[in-house]
Amino acid sequence: MGTAAGPAADSDLVRAARGLPVTRTPVWFMRQAGRSLPEYRALRQGTAMLQACQDPDLVTEITMQPVRRHGVDAAILFSDIVLPLVVAGVDIEIKAGVGPVIASPIRSVADVDALPPLEPDRLDFLGTAVQRLVAELGATPLIGFAGAPFTLATYLIEGGPSKEHARTKAFMYAEPEAWHRLLDHLAISAATFLRTQVDAGASAVQLFDSWAGVLSAADYAQRVLPHSRAVFDGLGDRDVPRTHFGVGTGELLPLIGDAGADMVGVDWRVPLDEAARRVGPGYSLQGNLDPAVLLSDRETIDREVRRIVEQGRAARGHVFNLGHGVLPETDPGALTHVVELVHELTTA
Ligand code: CP3
Repeated sequence: MGTAAGPAADSDLVRAARGLPVTRTPVWFMRQAGRSLPEYRALRQGTAMLQACQDPDLVTEITMQPVRRHGVDAAILFSDIVLPLVVAGVDIEIKAGVGPVIASPIRSVADVDALPPLEPDRLDFLGTAVQRLVAELGATPLIGFAGAPFTLATYLIEGGPSKEHARTKAFMYAEPEAWHRLLDHLAISAATFLRTQVDAGASAVQLFDSWAGVLSAADYAQRVLPHSRAVFDGLGDRDVPRTHFGVGTGELLPLIGDAGADMVGVDWRVPLDEAARRVGPGYSLQGNLDPAVLLSDRETIDREVRRIVEQGRAARGHVFNLGHGVLPETDPGALTHVVELVHELTTA
């Protein structure tokens, strides 16, 4: 597997992630596809979230919607971090306004051993959707993604979303062997999910470890990071830039790139110039507008965008994004405006 072919392989997004010169700062938004768009809500009518994710027509159309509307510099595949588990046969539902809910949470070593493996040939729908998207996107890169082992483990163990992740941590401390087996399993399925997307033509990948910020640096380094590294290692020599993202990871920033990332995603808590110091010279940065700022006024939005563009210059490369996903109540016009402003501020 060599360099990803096609015009998107030399896009500003790919170049910025690698720390190469760009024509202007690329911008896209986590959760750019979704409930902030009326055209998304219309298309999703009557189809369950996890059903929609397995329908190549819907995946293609929903992924394209924000690209057409906002002129963002990348598409991100419409899917979900729990999809590999669902395809493998784990009973999961995504409840609107709640998130993934697991019918039989993992509570014992036996539960870990009973997890079904992900068979790659059950991902044909995904390869089909990615191929169609890449053809339709042309020079705009498609970002493939997967959920990192830790964040997936939190859903499996808690049974759904949680704030403290106390059960997850208790399992991690009390059952270290089963913990590592569980994260091994999740790393293998995440790598399979990513490889399918890259082999079908995705130009970049992002690993979402959304909830890793609840861990101390020592626990993260010892009990989680090796498994996230295994996911990136599973890509072998596939030549696509790799982004590693989590929320509340200020204390983990010196470690996160170590998983094998080219670019580190940062939330709004740490300014990008400080984040650049913490991650060190070998990484680009992605972020980090607070999604709540988009609910304020134009003056505030513009001031914050300008600040982030300036602070982003401290990194070897910068991809403008939010610090976490678009909130459903966001005015889509504010997103389009941010794309235009970032481009205007950074075009040489
Ligand atoms: O546009 C995109 O960003 C691409 C698609 C995408 C979705 N989920 C679609 C989605 C991506 C990259 C994800 C990743 C994801 N899913 C993460 C990691 C990123 C993050 O936000 O931290 C996590 C933790 C999940 C789990 C999950 N799935 C949550 C917490 C929710 C939200 C629940 C809610 O309704 O508030 C989902 C559902 C989900 N995933 C939606 C979308 C568009 C909403 C589904 C709907 O329309 O009802």
